[in-house]
Amino acid sequence: MNKHFLALHDFSKKELDGLFELALELKKKQKNAEKHRMLKGKTLAMIFEKSSTRTRVSFEVGIYQLGGHGLFISSGTSQMGRGEPLKDTARTLSRYCDGIMVRTYGQDIVEELARFATVPVINGLTDLFHPCQIMADLLTVIEHKGSYQGLKFSWVGDGNNMANTWIEAAAIFGFDLTLACPEGYQPDPKVLAWAQANGTSAIVLTDDPKKAVQDADVLNTDVWASMGQEEEQKAREKAFAGYQLNSEILKLAKPDCIVMHCLPAHRDEEITDEVIEGPNSVVWDEAENRLHIQKAIMATLMA
Ligand code: CP
Ligand code: NVA
Repeated sequence: MNKHFLALHDFSKKELDGLFELALELKKKQKNAEKHRMLKGKTLAMIFEKSSTRTRVSFEVGIYQLGGHGLFISSGTSQMGRGEPLKDTARTLSRYCDGIMVRTYGQDIVEELARFATVPVINGLTDLFHPCQIMADLLTVIEHKGSYQGLKFSWVGDGNNMANTWIEAAAIFGFDLTLACPEGYQPDPKVLAWAQANGTSAIVLTDDPKKAVQDADVLNTDVWASMGQEEEQKAREKAFAGYQLNSEILKLAKPDCIVMHCLPAHRDEEITDEVIEGPNSVVWDEAENRLHIQKAIMATLMA
């Protein structure tokens, strides 16, 4: 197993399937109030350069349930915000802590931290990837559908960090994925090229949301403007008009499809209130599963 959790492409299907198994086991233990203190006395530093509700709370609660302690570090109130080099932060935190979780902008930032840290580094979202989220999403698919195998996945909206990570997941796990993104907002071409070179699944890119959701089992979307793109909101509202998960588009998918959103959602932009609150939505299970999969990731990397 790779020492760090920076991107899904660093892992084999077998390793990632092992994380789902462990997450389900830990979830059961937690529900039965059985002890599972696999990280007793260990500390996770959690660096945030962007806002968070789910990531912060699920990591902090997760390490606590494993018998350890989570330490919230906002980049703005630490020396990182005053320009202390990442490599110095990585080496300093490694002397106090047993793992580092980081939410930031460039993927190069998490890579630089990992290069100099002597403890595992976990990617809690970058502009390029959100691997913990897609692992939680797939755990949710497994729970609702029994398996991700043979299902048709679809993405409607921005070709952002979530879309890029779904592309990697499709290649690694071998499921078919169709993404509908407007021109100019397509996924990262390098990620797509990697997936096409390393996987056998059909990964189709279109600008037609109807085509993407046709007979789909799993429907996904995300905000039109991600963190750091707030100033583009107005332009993006124009570009993404029509790229919405609503009851009309849902009719084209399988009747028992599940609807996912990593949250936070902008109701009546990328998804209607009716759909996110409707019977096909599994967004709260998805949010809960962040806790369980991240406990499995931490227990595997930090024990
Ligand atoms: N989905 C997700 O990462 O949520 P937060 O931004 O609240 O952490
Ligand atoms: N694409 C979104 C995901 C938030 C969890 C963002 O990067 O802001």
